[in-house]
Amino acid sequence: MSRLVTTRTELADALSARRRAGERVGFVPTMGALHEGHASLMTRARTEVGTGPLVVSVFVNPLQFGPGEDLDRYPRTLDADLEVCAAHGVDLVFAPAVDEVYPTWPPAVTVDPGPLGSVLDGASRPGHFTGVLTVVAKLFGLVRPDVAVFGQKDYQQLVLIRRMAADLCLGVDVVGAETVREPDGLALSSRNRYLDPEQRRDALALSRTLRAAAEAAPYGVGAALDAARAELRAAPGVDLDYLELVLPDLAPLPDDVPAGTEARALIAARVGSTRLIDNLPLTIGRP
Ligand code: PAF
Repeated sequence: MSRLVTTRTELADALSARRRAGERVGFVPTMGALHEGHASLMTRARTEVGTGPLVVSVFVNPLQFGPGEDLDRYPRTLDADLEVCAAHGVDLVFAPAVDEVYPTWPPAVTVDPGPLGSVLDGASRPGHFTGVLTVVAKLFGLVRPDVAVFGQKDYQQLVLIRRMAADLCLGVDVVGAETVREPDGLALSSRNRYLDPEQRRDALALSRTLRAAAEAAPYGVGAALDAARAELRAAPGVDLDYLELVLPDLAPLPDDVPAGTEARALIAARVGSTRLIDNLPLTIGRP
């Protein structure tokens, strides 16, 4: 059984003795609607902290949703989430109300993600990464974890949280865990449950596009982009937002990419009314 706590005080009290005993605290922040992808983050966090306390937060953060986005319909499934947490050895589930996290609304102080917050997803979702970094900073302050695990599926988010932890000296190890996929390649996401069967089939174009780019990447950036675009042309149900190849820290690729350069392909697209994202690592040119 995982213990459910909803207030800052309960959370602090539940952790204080174990923290004093020198145990490492592991943390997996989530917005709930937990699936196997989240479960893999819990498993990873457990290997990081051994027998130390493992905390999962379940909080649908209003600050990271823009006007017209899916804040109201975002799935809220706390009972099922508690079962997933219990099955994966989570000690504490922190599921606060909005005013527990944001005693004043809107918050007067927020975290500026810098220039990386307005490219890729940040270009389509203004303010999104300010919302993400602000809530993660608050949750880090409340949980005070030694290690926090995030999915590589939200790759830009992971890069920005790593930067925040380093630049603001937060003293947390930020670990990125590999994306979990369905056998047919679809990256697990809480938003997949919005897809009807036809849209679910259309959504496979995202992972196919990334795989095509990765397979063609040894022949250069142009070949990778051509292969990816060919996949997308064959996917009429997919309304592309962006498809980009960038360096692993999200910096643009140089004009002349040395053979063997590690890069990341990122894609975002709308399938029906559902916005999906995915990404894959790739190596450009023959090493
Ligand atoms: O990835 C998510 O689920 C959210 O963006 C996070 C990190 C829990 C912040 O609300």
